[in-house]
Amino acid sequence: MFKILSKSAFAANEFDIWIDAPQIARNGHAGQFCVLRVNETGERIPLTVAEYDREGGRIRMIFQTVGKTTTALGKLNEGDCIHDILGPLGTPSEVKKYGTVLMIGGGVGIAALFPIIKALKEAGNKVITILGGRTKDLVIMMDECAKYSDELIVTTDDGSYGVKGVVTTAMDMLAQRGEKIDYCWAIGPSIMMKFASLKAKELQIPCWVSLNPIMIDGTGMCGGCRVTVNDKIRFACVDGPEFDGWGVNWNEFMTRLRQYKDEEKISLEKYKS
Ligand code: FAD
Ligand code: FES
Repeated sequence: MFKILSKSAFAANEFDIWIDAPQIARNGHAGQFCVLRVNETGERIPLTVAEYDREGGRIRMIFQTVGKTTTALGKLNEGDCIHDILGPLGTPSEVKKYGTVLMIGGGVGIAALFPIIKALKEAGNKVITILGGRTKDLVIMMDECAKYSDELIVTTDDGSYGVKGVVTTAMDMLAQRGEKIDYCWAIGPSIMMKFASLKAKELQIPCWVSLNPIMIDGTGMCGGCRVTVNDKIRFACVDGPEFDGWGVNWNEFMTRLRQYKDEEKISLEKYKS
């Protein structure tokens, strides 16, 4: 059992929890995730570790309630326990000194981007961060990302804050001012990662994306998280979740993400009734 030590919220459907998990806190790295079950009969879901507190033995998870299991998790409060957490899983981010790195985040994907921003800054890179959202209230962790970034650019679709536009608008701005970028990461909704990857390819910047397919066991056994990258089949839970964004078969990826939409809707309705 894993105790929730604190809980706060960014919005009505977006929660920030710290969990007592000393072993995971000691062994995890930026880019990795865990698979958890809220209760003994619960479905397994993957969530990224947004922060490791090695000394305090705690891990941080930030999640959006979108279906049955995340809704059930959102109902737990400080002092409650999560039944089991398996991790750290997946291959850590390739953290090294690249020179200048561009970090692009959107939605709850910003939580997954944050530990990589921190690690790349600590590795001596110049870090430029772009955070995007439909409106200002949907852009989370601005101050925390700014703390580890040499420059933070926020884009909002409605112009309520920062640059009016989407993350690729800011990528174009950086290209126009002649900023030389050695590597980039894009983490967020699939559509954002797809267009950020296409723009990165146009600008000839290698680009990591963190794929979030449906996962079941999280250990490479079931094949549920199959993705195609550079025409090769890969399992996101063990080969990823980070992959070369230029090479992802985005249409297949997005089709597979939607494949149980009807069942997921029924499952949430049943849970709520
Ligand atoms: P479900 O009933 O499974 O789905 C409800 C609806 O949510 C679906 O119809 C679909 O629209 C959407 N959805 C479901 N699964 C996903 C998915 N994998 N990605 C995007 N949308 C989905 N979520 C977070 O909030 N925070 C994280 O840090 C985080 N990290 C992740 C790391 C990895 C490696 C992966 C693979 C996924 C991650 N996710 C994260 C997504 C999270 O696992 C799903 O939102 C969750 O499994 C949904 O479970 P559910 O039962 O609540 O909803
Ligand atoms: Fe089963 Fe990846 S989740 S192989």
